[in-house]
Amino acid sequence: MNHALDRRPSKILVVDDRKENLFAMEKILRTLPCEVHTAYSGNEALSLTLRHDFALILLDVNMPEMDGFELAELLRSHEATQRIPIIFVTAINTEDKSVFKGYESGAVDYLFKPVDVDILLSKVKVFLELDRKKKELESIQSELERSNRSLTEFAQVVSHDLKNPLHVITGLSELLLLKYADGLGERGRASIEQIAASAQRMDRLITDLLSFAQVNALSTVYGLVDLNEVLHDVVSDLSSRLEQTGGTVERLDELPRLEADRTQMYQLFQNLLANSIKYHDKRRPPRILIGTIRLASPDVCCFYVEDNGIGMEEKELSVIFNPFTRLSNAQGFEGAGLGLATVRQIVQQHQGSIDVTSEPGVGTRFKLAFPVAQEAAGA
Ligand SMILES: Nc1ncnc2c1ncn2[C@@H]1O[C@H](COP(=O)(O)OP(=O)(O)OP(=O)(O)O)[C@@H](O)[C@H]1O
Ligand SMILES: [Mg+2]
Repeated sequence: MNHALDRRPSKILVVDDRKENLFAMEKILRTLPCEVHTAYSGNEALSLTLRHDFALILLDVNMPEMDGFELAELLRSHEATQRIPIIFVTAINTEDKSVFKGYESGAVDYLFKPVDVDILLSKVKVFLELDRKKKELESIQSELERSNRSLTEFAQVVSHDLKNPLHVITGLSELLLLKYADGLGERGRASIEQIAASAQRMDRLITDLLSFAQVNALSTVYGLVDLNEVLHDVVSDLSSRLEQTGGTVERLDELPRLEADRTQMYQLFQNLLANSIKYHDKRRPPRILIGTIRLASPDVCCFYVEDNGIGMEEKELSVIFNPFTRLSNAQGFEGAGLGLATVRQIVQQHQGSIDVTSEPGVGTRFKLAFPVAQEAAGA
C-alpha cells in the first residue's frame, strides 16, 4: 500500500535543571536517529510540549520549583500530553519501585543516576521504535479512511451513471409496449418484455453492489435502534412476497434494542428474510421464526432467524458469506450472491458474530450475537 508515512525524525525532550546533565544527555542521544530538545525547568518543558509532538520525555525527578513527578502529573492531566511516554531519571538508588507506582498506567520507565549509557540508549531505542510503529499505524489508518471514502464516492458515481441509461431502456421499452404493441407481434412484444426485465435485474444488481460497498464506508450512523421496529418494517416491505408464497413471519419474543446503524440493521433483516422466502421449499409455505437465545454471558445478546426452506449442504456452509457466492441450491433463483456478504459486513461493523446451521429439505437457522455494550441500557 502506498501510504504517506511521516518520515520526520522522532523528537525527544530532556528535562533537567543542571546544564551539564542536559549537555551530557544530549550528546549521547544525538547518536540516535532523533531530534533532541532540552528544557531547564518544568514550566519550560510544559510550553515545549504544547509546540512539539514528543515521542519520549526523559525527566529528571529532582528539580527545584516543579519536580519531575509534579510535571508528570500535569502532563498526564492534559489530553494532548497524557500519552507521551516518560522515563524518570533519578538519584534514588533503591530497588523499591513503589515510588513509581502512581505512573504505572502510562508508558513509564526509569533510569538511575549515574546514567549507564548502554541502558539509556537501549531504553530510548525501544520508545523510538514504538513511536515509529505508532506513526506507521496512523498513516495506514488515514490512508485506509481516504481510500474507503474515495471507493464509496466511486461506487456512487458509477451506480448513478450506470442506472441512468438503464432507466432510459426501461422507459423506452414500456413506451414501445404501450404505443406500438399491435405492430410488434407476439415475438416482438416478448423480446421487449425481456429487455425490460433484464434492465430491471441489472438495476437491482447495481443497488445491491452499492449497498455492499457502502457498509464499510465511514457513513455508519449509530443510534438507539429497536430491532422489533426494524423487523416490523422489513416484514411489511416484504408483505407482497409473503402473500405470494403464503409465508408467515413469527417473532417469538422481544428482540433487543441496540446501539446500531438503523439502515444497516434493516438491510440485515431484509437479506435474511428475503432469502428465507426466496429459498423456500415448494412443498410448504415459508415459515420464518425469529427469537432470542438466553446466554450464560451477560455481555452478549443473541437472536436467531430460522426458516423451513430448502436448506443447504453442510459442506457448502463455509462459503456462503463470501461475496458473489451462490450454492447449488440457488439454481433457478435470481440473485447476485451479495446478500449474506452484506449481512456479514454489517455484523462485523457492529462487533457481532453470525453463524449458520442448515439441513437440506428441513431448513436453515442463522444465529446472530452482538456485544451488550451495543445493547442499550434498560432496554
Ligand atoms: N435461507 C436460506 N436457505 C437456503 N439457502 C440459502 C439461504 N440463504 C442463503 N442461501 C444460499 O446461500 C447463497 C448466498 O446467499 P446470498 O443472500 O448471499 O445471495 P443470493 O440470495 O443468491 O443473491 P442476493 O442476496 O445478492 O440477491 C444463496 O445463493 C443460496 O444458495
Ligand atoms: Mg440473498
